[in-house]
Amino acid sequence: MKVLFVCLGNICRSPLAEALFKAKAQKMGLSNTFFADSCGTANYHVGDSPDPRTVKNARGNGIEIVHIGRQFSKRDLTDFDWIFAMDKGNLEIILSYTQSEAERSKVKLIRDFDPVKSGNVPDPYHGTEDDFQEVFLILDRTIDHLLVSLTN
Ligand code: 4NP
Repeated sequence: MKVLFVCLGNICRSPLAEALFKAKAQKMGLSNTFFADSCGTANYHVGDSPDPRTVKNARGNGIEIVHIGRQFSKRDLTDFDWIFAMDKGNLEIILSYTQSEAERSKVKLIRDFDPVKSGNVPDPYHGTEDDFQEVFLILDRTIDHLLVSLTN
């Protein structure tokens, strides 16, 4: 099963979501069940490493991020089984590329799987260390529940 995480820049939220997903899948012995990737709807950070603030925060929480920024492309709608957007703005951008109900039904807001609160994963780009930690905590619990949902 191929899963794609999408944010705006592909340097903060979605590379963290991808790294958390891979680490949790590995712990569950499911590394070979899934292929996970991430991308951004914008092209500002294509080819860039993840934001150093995200890397530092993730490392402090025991997660290593390995990713190079890339932009979402229409092909992702056929290549992936599930596409998880970090917020409603990016969800709408992805949906604007869809051409069938089959494609539309693959695209979800990731916090639909958050047991605490639905809505957007807040963009931490102009935020503080606390904002990066909030993103980490949201994605950590959300991806636990996402994995349960995908494996049931
Ligand atoms: P991300 O955060 O979408 O979580 O990667 C952002 C990264 C960069 C920018 C905005 C949000 N930017 O405007 O460059």
